[in-house]
Amino acid sequence: MEGCMSVSLTTQNLLLRQPELGDAEPIARFLNDFGVAGNLARVPFPYHLSDAKGWLRTRAPNLPVEEITFSIEVPGEGFAGHVGYHLGPQGPILGYWLGRPFWGRGVMTEAVIASLDWFFGASNHDVVYSGVFHFNLASLAIQTKLGFTQTGRSTLLCLARDAEVEHIDTKLTRSVWKARTQ
Ligand SMILES: CC(C)(COP(=O)(O)OP(=O)(O)OC[C@H]1O[C@@H](n2cnc3c(N)ncnc32)[C@H](O)[C@@H]1OP(=O)(O)O)[C@@H](O)C(=O)NCCC(=O)NCCS
Repeated sequence: MEGCMSVSLTTQNLLLRQPELGDAEPIARFLNDFGVAGNLARVPFPYHLSDAKGWLRTRAPNLPVEEITFSIEVPGEGFAGHVGYHLGPQGPILGYWLGRPFWGRGVMTEAVIASLDWFFGASNHDVVYSGVFHFNLASLAIQTKLGFTQTGRSTLLCLARDAEVEHIDTKLTRSVWKARTQ
């Protein structure tokens, strides 16, 4: 799939745009919070500005669709978090997080919907994989209401906890997503 470095999406309340260097400071501030990092597999804790800058350096131009992450901006408030994809062994994996000031306002539901509309339109993949650590009921609620179904349990290394954690595996099919948006 061809790259699309410049892609940005607008929703009713949000701007989803490509990450930029100015995101480093808020990324570091929001991810250096165990309540965020401890729910994610691949984020170390404590999390430093150098970690954010290192991650931003991986955001090369023309990444494939399966490796795109959007920075979520709330107009008037600025950078809020990330929603994006990476390619796992079975296929594309959806992941997302928000800084704590933005929780509980429907922001991630809106961002995930926009990213899935974009992803199924921009790729030929028929399945998107995701999941949650077993205690993350808010994130599971988002996935369930959008049509993800549970496929099983696994254990996943959580860098912030330095431990293997039980993970509820989920997936969303293109046909379920299409039926939802018709
Ligand atoms: C999980 C997270 C993304 C949620 O973002 P958000 O913008 O607050 O989520 P939304 O407001 O769009 O939706 C949350 C849903 O979970 C529900 N919810 C919240 N807490 C809940 C709980 N303890 N149990 C069950 N449902 C819960 C809300 O009611 C809402 O559902 P509704 O729209 O049907 O009412 C955000 O808290 C976050 O970034 N957390 C840290 C990182 C993380 O967990 N990332 C996901 C890893 S899988």
